[in-house]
Amino acid sequence: MGSSGTLCFFAEKEIRRLMRIFYCAMFLICFGTATVLGDETKIEFFHALTDKPLEFKYRKDQQLTEAVEGFYVSGKNPYSGDAAALADGLKVYKKLCQACHLKDGKGRIGPNLTDDKWLRQRTNTDIGRFEIIYGGGAGAMQPFGRRIDQDDILKVMAYIDTFRTKQ
Ligand code: HEC
Repeated sequence: MGSSGTLCFFAEKEIRRLMRIFYCAMFLICFGTATVLGDETKIEFFHALTDKPLEFKYRKDQQLTEAVEGFYVSGKNPYSGDAAALADGLKVYKKLCQACHLKDGKGRIGPNLTDDKWLRQRTNTDIGRFEIIYGGGAGAMQPFGRRIDQDDILKVMAYIDTFRTKQ
């Protein structure tokens, strides 16, 4: 009787151990799948001139906002038409873009941003405009990715969109 009790105890211990392994395996499988799927759905960004993949180097203290994370997946600017974001975008535009693209966006050193003619292959999309603002283009169009947060790039993109919708 004593020996069958010990056997039972061992069997129970063994079952618990197996269950623990099973739960760990299930967790790893679910977690792994979610990570892989998460990566697969992210958009790839390329440099406007070289077409090489754009590697994001995050600025010190930069906050990866919900808007930026959403943009990595949707490729659509979540700030488009958002009044508060447009006000911030205007400030960025005045400070960093207006000297070349002019107040009304009609352009001087930088090209006209008010029409639907685009110099670059992808700048007719949010993704392409993000790429050229983040990573830079030819000549005077320097990369702004190290100077302003990606969240501000989305805001200034929303602002320059108003040049076209205002027409
Ligand atoms: C010193 C001048 C200069 C400044 C400042 C500047 N740009 Fe540009 N921008 C240019 C030039 C020149 C080009 C053309 C580059 C090319 O075609 O590769 C350009 C191209 C662009 C394009 C693509 C246009 C197209 O037709 O493909 C966008 C969008 C743009 N700039 C937005 C901005 C924004 C937003 C800022 C401010 C954060 C800014 N630029 C600041 C000179 C400037």
